[in-house]
Amino acid sequence: MRPVTGGIGAEISGIDIGEALSAATVSELRQALLDHLVIFFRDQEITPAQQLAFVRHFGEPDIYPFVKGLEDYPEITPILKLPEETVNFGGIWHSDTVYQPEPPMGTVLYAKELPPSGGDTLFANQYQAYETLSEPLRKFLDGLTAINSATKGSAAKTRAGRVADSGTGLAEKTMQAEHPVVRTHPETGRKALFVNIGHTVRFAGMTEEESAPILDFLYHHQIKPEFSCRFIWTPGSLAFWDNRCAQHYPVNDYHGHTRLLHRVTLKGDKPF
Ligand code: SIN
Repeated sequence: MRPVTGGIGAEISGIDIGEALSAATVSELRQALLDHLVIFFRDQEITPAQQLAFVRHFGEPDIYPFVKGLEDYPEITPILKLPEETVNFGGIWHSDTVYQPEPPMGTVLYAKELPPSGGDTLFANQYQAYETLSEPLRKFLDGLTAINSATKGSAAKTRAGRVADSGTGLAEKTMQAEHPVVRTHPETGRKALFVNIGHTVRFAGMTEEESAPILDFLYHHQIKPEFSCRFIWTPGSLAFWDNRCAQHYPVNDYHGHTRLLHRVTLKGDKPF
């Protein structure tokens, strides 16, 4: 295992994800995920069934609410950008589907087709984002909850293309959840900042105008290079991130090319 930065991310080698994993290997990978927040694997040749079998070592696959999954594997969402498109799916800093009452604990993303260059994904460590705030601000945020919504325009427009051609028909306005602004990770016990520019609308009990100055500060703070890493995909790469303490951002710099990945999210629990 090789950490890719001082703050987040580790590349794992010597594991064939397509094979049945021993309990010891699963436990080592889970610890690596808890320690590094996102783990990367290279040169994997796996089928959708093998991706799901890998995911099931760590939890139960979830279903993405707005876009249909693969015909035979509804838990696998194709993350696709076509050559004629200019908007990429999820192209804003976010944690996955935090507008759900129990957001996913993690996400497993597998590269199927990549542009010749570009289309990297950035990740940011939300423990560090919290821990580097001043004590008075941490105290203030500790007591707050925030409203997270699927309707926030900047994120909603990134899924519009796929909703148009393979949407499930579910209305975005039905998806809204109130979560602590600082959540305690259920496995590590560490506190992580849990707001994001893609989905967080306001602090509960406050207006959007009142919330905006502090949220804007947090959105800039929480993605600092010191808390981040950049993953350059190669064919057969797989990333597994902890959605409870990491955010991600897919870079949209490959117009005119196809990028296709297969995504599975894992069911999570209610943040506290
Ligand atoms: C996502 O799950 O938000 C997409 C990430 C990516 O395309 O790299």
